[in-house]
Amino acid sequence: PKKVIYDTDPGVDDAMALLFLEYSPDVDLVGITTVLGNHTIETTTRNALFLKDYFAIAAPVAQGAGRPLVLEPTVPPTYVHGENGLGDIPLPDVIQSRVHDLPAHEFIIKTVRDNPGEITIVAVGRMTNLALALRQDPGIVPLVREIVIMGGAFGFKGHSGNVTPVAEANIIGDPHAADEIFAAAWPIVVVGLDVTQEAVMTTAYLEALRDASGRAGQFIWDISRFYETFYRTTTGLEGIPVHDSSAVAYLLDPTLFTTRGGPIRVVTEGIAIGQTIQQPNTRKFRPNAWSNRPDHAICIDGDAERFLKLYFDTI
Ligand code: BDR
Ligand code: CA
Repeated sequence: PKKVIYDTDPGVDDAMALLFLEYSPDVDLVGITTVLGNHTIETTTRNALFLKDYFAIAAPVAQGAGRPLVLEPTVPPTYVHGENGLGDIPLPDVIQSRVHDLPAHEFIIKTVRDNPGEITIVAVGRMTNLALALRQDPGIVPLVREIVIMGGAFGFKGHSGNVTPVAEANIIGDPHAADEIFAAAWPIVVVGLDVTQEAVMTTAYLEALRDASGRAGQFIWDISRFYETFYRTTTGLEGIPVHDSSAVAYLLDPTLFTTRGGPIRVVTEGIAIGQTIQQPNTRKFRPNAWSNRPDHAICIDGDAERFLKLYFDTI
């Protein structure tokens, strides 16, 4: 199995992707690191600890960044993930699990150094923890096996941003962190809105999952009610787009996606802040702001049907 650190801001779809990782026989989940995003760092960490308790997840939870590198933290999107970040299902007053002694970025550094060449990081929130790890110990770059990121939007299949016309939430939440991550020469695959918005769990799918998968299926149904209403009322979608689990799907089966290589930059100021732009390496450009940056892969197409079947079978 692949050793995975899951960097996350739970979050409804983050919780769904955590179960996808936890129940996959091909994954050895070695750590969960939290970051602000879908809620404050206190709440995303509380939610990760609750999930650890509720599903008896062995991996430790290390608490991460409560603010972006440069920008001011924004108000949590409670209209998407609920007041408690998990679709407003009732949560217990007392959480048994405790956070790890190390902060998330130091947990990442230590785990990578202890397992050279073996750790895959699945990052489905703001990339602040990763950027802090990179700043503190750039020597980890050649030691990381792969980073799979849910974030960004590159304009394929008619999909654009979800916070502004060009910016996706995880990137605009900390564009400086994302740009630093893309500047480093570790192997990165970006699973952006171009493919995550193509993979939709319909209400009928979620009902079938609930009825077939015991406690986990019921839990996914319960936490997704609020989220589904948000998508129906704002986009007219009959179901939920599967953002964070799409990154896990790439990890489990890269043949589900078509990718394109080339250096990526993130707009860090102005009206297009948070936009992700890849210069395709399939053609030559004159020297520009992408020159001398490493190539990274972005997903430009995916097999949603096969992915949704993999999710269903795994849960
Ligand atoms: C991303 O933003 C968050 O709301 C989701 O958890 C996902 O990681 C989608 O833009
Ligand atoms: Ca997320």
